[in-house]
Amino acid sequence: MNKKLSIKIITLFPEFINNFADSFGILKKAILNNLLEIKPVNLRQFGIGERQAVDDRPYGGGVGMVLRPDILHKAIKKAKSKKSKVILLTPQGKKFNQQTAQRLSEANNLVFVCGRYEGFDERIRKFVDEEISIGDYVLMGGELPALVISEAVMRLRPGILGKIESTENESFSAGKLEYPQYTKPEVWKVGGKNLRVPKVLSTGHHKNIADFRSKKADKRTKKRRPDLFV
Ligand code: ADE
Repeated sequence: MNKKLSIKIITLFPEFINNFADSFGILKKAILNNLLEIKPVNLRQFGIGERQAVDDRPYGGGVGMVLRPDILHKAIKKAKSKKSKVILLTPQGKKFNQQTAQRLSEANNLVFVCGRYEGFDERIRKFVDEEISIGDYVLMGGELPALVISEAVMRLRPGILGKIESTENESFSAGKLEYPQYTKPEVWKVGGKNLRVPKVLSTGHHKNIADFRSKKADKRTKKRRPDLFV
């Protein structure tokens, strides 16, 4: 039996998480197959006063509001279990990549803490296990990053994709980009040109095909992502 992954997402937009995860794609499939549970934890329920406030003005002045650490902490305590890995989503975190997806796919309990773009009180950093950014750009909050990471992680878990091999050859899994793929038609007439599938791929010669693909993957990686080539 494949183990179920539990993901809790601390957010002010629980419907957004539910709508996305329940609607389509690999997360929906995983939920239906009992391999995944994604539960938003509504930060608002821990808010203070009549308005259930979760944020306040920054000490020292400045624009915008800052999420209170005591409120975030209450939500984290509610969401996590002993085995949970608690991840804060922030553009200041370590940049997410396939290797991190692989590492996180070995955990069975993940808690994502979504900041809002104005920020969160610095002191909450002491109560998370790691901080992740999905790229060098600023989003309005951590909800999309949490879903991006959930999908990248979920597709690596057993029982999700048809064949284990389907994640073995893909881009980044061996530290480089994937080789180019072709399908029918073998000769594609377009714009007055004949675009052909490379001949070696139709020979059935496994060794030559493997060599061809490996060379193409190397060449493509060197050209497009020299940073991956070490
Ligand atoms: N929150 C806002 N922008 C983000 C980013 N790029 N990665 C992770 N969390 C974020």
